[in-house]
Amino acid sequence: MAEITLDLRSADREIAYKELAEHIELVLAGVNDPVAEMATISALVHHAFGHLWTGFYRVIEKGRLLRVGPYQGTLGCLEITFGRGVCGTAAAEGRTVVVEDVDHFPGHIACDSRSRSEIVVPVWDRQGELTAVFDADSDRIGAFDQRDASGLEGILARFAGSSRQ
Ligand code: SME
Repeated sequence: MAEITLDLRSADREIAYKELAEHIELVLAGVNDPVAEMATISALVHHAFGHLWTGFYRVIEKGRLLRVGPYQGTLGCLEITFGRGVCGTAAAEGRTVVVEDVDHFPGHIACDSRSRSEIVVPVWDRQGELTAVFDADSDRIGAFDQRDASGLEGILARFAGSSRQ
């Protein structure tokens, strides 16, 4: 069971996240290695929903700089400063940002011109420090909403030492 990659594109979104969160917890049971966890979460979320780009930007300089981490998809930009683009905004403000149409988000960084909508979720560690942001991009407008925000926040809560399934 643990070795499969789920395809949840046709599932009800809330049920999909519940299933995905359980699957991720099963695959990563006992693993406490951020690189392995980020790589595994990127792969499973990416293929579950068929996103364009799915992965992490890590905080390299507190309050200043993000650098790309494990991801799936086409080449992502290497570094993003806090406050720039969707990732930089989520990092600077410490909140999940859902962008329905990237053309209407001032300063959006287009690493892939096919990107139409995205969601960025902050990742907190056990000390309550921002350690990364998780970014998922879609080639469809309005691909993400509050269900994705809650589902992803639940999955990413493992980095803070809690699981919210
Ligand atoms: N879209 C992001 C940049 C990162 S990539 O698209 C992989 C942004 O505006 O923050």
